[in-house]
Formats: sequence, C-alpha cells, structure tokens
Amino acid sequence: MDLGTGTSLCAIRAALRKLDIKFIGIDISRNMLKYAQKNINKMKLHRRIYNTNGDIEILNFPDNTFDKIISIYGFGAVKKPTKAFKEVMRVAKPNARITFGEMTRPPKNRGLFWQKVHDIVEWGVDLIWKFRDVNLNQLFRKFKIKIDYLEYKKDRFIGSLTVISGLVNKN
Ligand SMILES: C[S@@+](CC[C@H](N)C(=O)[O-])C[C@H]1O[C@@H](n2cnc3c(N)ncnc32)[C@H](O)[C@@H]1O
Repeated sequence: MDLGTGTSLCAIRAALRKLDIKFIGIDISRNMLKYAQKNINKMKLHRRIYNTNGDIEILNFPDNTFDKIISIYGFGAVKKPTKAFKEVMRVAKPNARITFGEMTRPPKNRGLFWQKVHDIVEWGVDLIWKFRDVNLNQLFRKFKIKIDYLEYKKDRFIGSLTVISGLVNKN
C-alpha cells in the first residue's frame, strides 16, 4: 500500500523495480489521483497499481491485509500522525515491512539572513500545504517497529530527510 500516493510516482518506481508487487494507493485528493491514473496508464501499470480515494486516518481495509506499506512525504500533511499510524498497524500483516520518508524542519541555528529566507518559505509552505513535522523515528519506536534501515540526510535549507524502514511486530 502507498499512503498519500499523490501522482503515484513512488508506487510506479517500486512496481517497475519489483515485478511481483501489486500496489493499492490511497490519497485524499481526487485531483492528485487523476494525475496518478495518467502516469499509471502511461507506464502500462494499470493491472498492478490500483488507487482509491481515502483518508490515511481511516483506512477502509480489513485487519492484517498488507505485506508492505510505503509513504513518501505522505504523513507530513496528516492531521493526527499517531492515530494514522495506528491504522497503518491495523492493516499491516504481522511482519509486514513499513517504509516511510519524510521531511523534518531544520534546527533554527543558521545565520540571520538564511533564517529569514527560510521562515518566509516555511510560512508559504504552511499556508498551502499545512506541513507538519513528523518524527518518524519516534513514531516507529512508539509502535515497536523493528527498525533495520534509517537514513538521515541533512539539508541546509529545507531541513532534513528521514527514510526509515522496519518490520511490524504484533506480538
Ligand atoms: C507531498 S505529496 C506526496 C505524494 C507522493 N507520495 C510523492 O512522493 O510524490 C502528499 C500527498 O498526501 C496526500 N494526503 C494528505 N493528507 C492525506 C490524508 N489524510 N489521507 C490521504 N492522503 C493524504 C495529499 O493529497 C498529497 O497527494
């Protein structure tokens, strides 16, 4: 499952790399899903990627459904990340792999000029996208995911990118 699939580019890339995977993508925006469908059709992946309109916080799937769950920049816009992650845990199979990528705001310790530029950009992003800081590491630990991959890339301007992956532990 791809949470907050947007234009489905991540699902498409993953599907092209691993031929035995089928995806269900979820997005709250019907407009994004229209673009996604165009991309999926263009890549002839319509038999392997199915998208549906929905909210990550209320996943309309039975318990223990998915082997792998990805979300790339999908959680930053979710209103209640902990509630949403509970849903992720519910629909994940025991031992499922969960891989998330998300941006985090940079610490406020840069020079005054860059700080001001950054504050303005951040204000614009907040206004349009309602960006929220999600601490993926904390979230994964809270739900006892067995983390086996953690990449943290620092960026001077937009903040840092965390990519984290691990296995669900339902015991
Ligand atoms: C920054 S985009 C990322 C899209 C895609 N994962 C990518 O990396 O290209 C975030 C997406 O999450 C969707 N989204 C935001 N809140 C959501 C929610 N509560 N439930 C489902 N999708 C949501 C937005 O509509 C948007 O398409």
